[in-house]
Amino acid sequence: MNISRDKIKLAGNFSGTDKVTHHGYERFYSDFLNRSKINNQILEIGYGEGQSIKFWKRLFPNSFLNIIDLNKSEIGNGYKVFKCDQSSLTDLKKIQKELQSKSIDLIIDDGSHIPEHIILTFNLFFKALLNSDCIYIIEDIETSYWMNSDCYGYPTNYGIESKNSIVNSFCVLAHWLNREFLNEKQKNKLENKVKSLGFNIDTVNSIRSITFGHNCICINKNSKDDLKYLDRDYRFKSKINGFINILKFKKKLKNFLIKLKIYNQI
Ligand SMILES: C[S@@+](CC[C@H](N)C(=O)[O-])C[C@H]1O[C@@H](n2cnc3c(N)ncnc32)[C@H](O)[C@@H]1O
Repeated sequence: MNISRDKIKLAGNFSGTDKVTHHGYERFYSDFLNRSKINNQILEIGYGEGQSIKFWKRLFPNSFLNIIDLNKSEIGNGYKVFKCDQSSLTDLKKIQKELQSKSIDLIIDDGSHIPEHIILTFNLFFKALLNSDCIYIIEDIETSYWMNSDCYGYPTNYGIESKNSIVNSFCVLAHWLNREFLNEKQKNKLENKVKSLGFNIDTVNSIRSITFGHNCICINKNSKDDLKYLDRDYRFKSKINGFINILKFKKKLKNFLIKLKIYNQI
């Protein structure tokens, strides 16, 4: 797949979406969108004025677009808009059921931009709807730095130190990606932290990589093949190696003491 920065810019300017005109996401999308094949369906949270429909159709003319938004339902040429509140688990589950049979290659969360809603949506859609090896993009993470403000009527009181900042939550997941290198106690502690942030463990176990950009996060979904790197007995092997090293050292020490003729005296 070759989705160049220029191609994205052209599609952005043609459609008028602020993805390009304001946010300059072509800087990252030229990388993100080339990570997987996008042949099938796309799901975007957030209709706005409908500009991104034109944007995605221009980039991927053969794909079908599924959009969800608070108070909109519409069927058009190559797209369908579903009425769904992404802050409602009931609504999200309904959409998940409806889209379950589709083959979704790309998900973009450009909805309420509220961290708690983003995690709720990610829990359901990333694991259940996105194809393996494909990408999930979270846009406009700027709201996690907003204090005493609001977005679409929802209060935003986060900031760089906030536990609920979406940036901080995904930074915790960076450690979860490296859980193989933790001992059981550390791993349990981290697992509790991940759960307390609202993440579903099955979902976060399907993450291959997380990339941060200016105002966006891109999450790659793993395939079965990735799991073998987590199933290997990394820590047990290191313990055995440690034990073997102790035995080797004991043997060396014994030989050294024999040489000094003091071994039999102790
Ligand atoms: C930034 S606009 C989307 C822009 C569009 N994706 C584009 O690039 O042209 C965000 C949309 O999210 C919708 N939204 C806000 N809160 C929502 C919620 N709780 N559930 C679903 N959609 C929501 C708003 O109605 C608005 O249409």
